[in-house]
Amino acid sequence: MKIISTIDELRDQLRGQLRTAFVPTMGNLHEGHLSLMRLARRHGDPVVASIFVNRLQFGPNEDFDKYPRTFQADVEKLEKEGVYVLFAPTEKDLYPEPQEYRVQPPDNLGTILEGEFRPGFFNGVCTVVTKLFSCVQPRVAVFGKKDYQQLMIIRNMARQFALPTEIIGAETFRAEDGLALSSRNGYLSSEERAEAPFLFQTLNWVAEQTRAGHPDLAALEREAMARLAARGWKPDYVSIRKRMNLQAPDAADYIPHSAENAPLVVLTAAKLGNTRLIDNLEI
Ligand code: PAF
Repeated sequence: MKIISTIDELRDQLRGQLRTAFVPTMGNLHEGHLSLMRLARRHGDPVVASIFVNRLQFGPNEDFDKYPRTFQADVEKLEKEGVYVLFAPTEKDLYPEPQEYRVQPPDNLGTILEGEFRPGFFNGVCTVVTKLFSCVQPRVAVFGKKDYQQLMIIRNMARQFALPTEIIGAETFRAEDGLALSSRNGYLSSEERAEAPFLFQTLNWVAEQTRAGHPDLAALEREAMARLAARGWKPDYVSIRKRMNLQAPDAADYIPHSAENAPLVVLTAAKLGNTRLIDNLEI
């Protein structure tokens, strides 16, 4: 595997490649990331991964400084997956001057759910992904469904800018007890780790209630938040949305027991101790 940090060298290395499959990451790789690499391999060749902890997508009080950086271990994992190039720019390589031009997602997607609790997050994500795409020029790029809203925003961005990159969504990789794999799981104490699967259990409960024809989805969301809070979680949201645009379903989209309902997804973000976890489940 070639490890490249500068944009010029990356362009030289990938010149003439028309089927590149790209997996952008922030490192601290786990099985979830590796499953993205395997999916990428099925959709293109060569597989290019990136590791870059993108300051632009972290708020001032977020975990940019303490975000786990495990470069050597990551390199070994990617080598085993047969990744051809690892693009690992420094901040100076990717942002040699202040990144004043930004890619701003529309408010109806960028300021809801995660965007409400992490202002500027999707601006930072869209900006870095656009820049990484410009460097790698992939034919396909793979993103996990665990970051459901991020996947939708990037897919819409690629479509509206007519980017030549197809966006592929990969299923969430879960531990045996249901917890979605995430680099932030490493922040959990052993007690918190034992409690963490309750988040996915809550999503399953919401999905079952919805499928069983719960008469009031807003009340169901409130009840799910209360269940989390009762066990010491601090939920930011548990929200049932339409899969197609992440807007709340209205009376015509959800009629209890109707087979015609709009496809839905339930999304959540909640803090356990100091660790904020997100997850989602298609209903
Ligand atoms: O999902 C992530 O790890 C990041 O948001 C991404 C897509 C690599 C952009 O920094």
